[in-house]
Amino acid sequence: MRRLRESHQLMSEKVQPIGVFDSGYGGLTVLREIVRKLPQYDYVYLGDNARTPYGTRSFDTVYHYTLECVQHLFDAGCRLVVLACNTASAKALRNIQQLDLPTLVPGRTGARLDGPDRRVLGVIRPTTEVIGKYSKTGNVGILATRGTITSESYVVEIEKFFPALNVFQEACPMWVPLVENGEYASPGADYFVKQHIDRLMAQSSDIDTLLLACTHYPLLLDKIRQAAPANMTILTQGGIVADSLAEYLIRHPEIDAQCSKYGQRTFLTTDSTEDFDRQATIFYGQPVQSIHLAL
Ligand code: DGL
Repeated sequence: MRRLRESHQLMSEKVQPIGVFDSGYGGLTVLREIVRKLPQYDYVYLGDNARTPYGTRSFDTVYHYTLECVQHLFDAGCRLVVLACNTASAKALRNIQQLDLPTLVPGRTGARLDGPDRRVLGVIRPTTEVIGKYSKTGNVGILATRGTITSESYVVEIEKFFPALNVFQEACPMWVPLVENGEYASPGADYFVKQHIDRLMAQSSDIDTLLLACTHYPLLLDKIRQAAPANMTILTQGGIVADSLAEYLIRHPEIDAQCSKYGQRTFLTTDSTEDFDRQATIFYGQPVQSIHLAL
């Protein structure tokens, strides 16, 4: 197993990759779409597999875990980090942007941070900016972890862009464990998928658009489609986030200029690299060879 104590040991000085963070494997479904859209950039993915799941953890725990991982990605040379995790976006992004980015100091791990020009983006804003365009009835359903649902982040953000939209939410705490344990295609998964779709639809039969607001859920897409009423529009986030990132880099040429473009991909996990490499292929769609990062 390749091990790293510090993520800045990874990169040569000239490589400033875009960091993509998730609590585990799920963010690879987002990275996959980002790489498809923007293949020329360098990327470093960090999965905090040793501490997953985040969805059931407290606000403070998710915030501290996420901040620590973001710091490691900055140390690895990233100027731009995408939190490809709804739970982290819901519970940590605002604090990191408002409290930590201005004060993060170089050197916790001897990193080469040399300016305030670092950015952290999430997955909730890009999704809430477009969700209203998909619904004809004006009723949308959000499926996510308990942490994301109780944060009310989707309700608050959608209100800003589509105030007339009715938002119905359902927490699906069994779905991440089903996916993490490779049970996403098993007959046993049908029960839990149907249970939560039925509970959501019981809130309003007028819902015509479902958002899979958790990066693990695309693996359950076939079962969700079977359990949902016919003609339901089901949105996954990968493509939406990739489009939004592409637009962001155009709007911010000063950030774009700091992201290197050698087409390199690096995968870090805080847990077993063997497990990561086996599971990651399912989410990313291609074989990966990860490096262990000791937090
Ligand atoms: N990746 C997380 C999300 O998108 C879910 C996994 C977890 O609970 O850690 O919300």
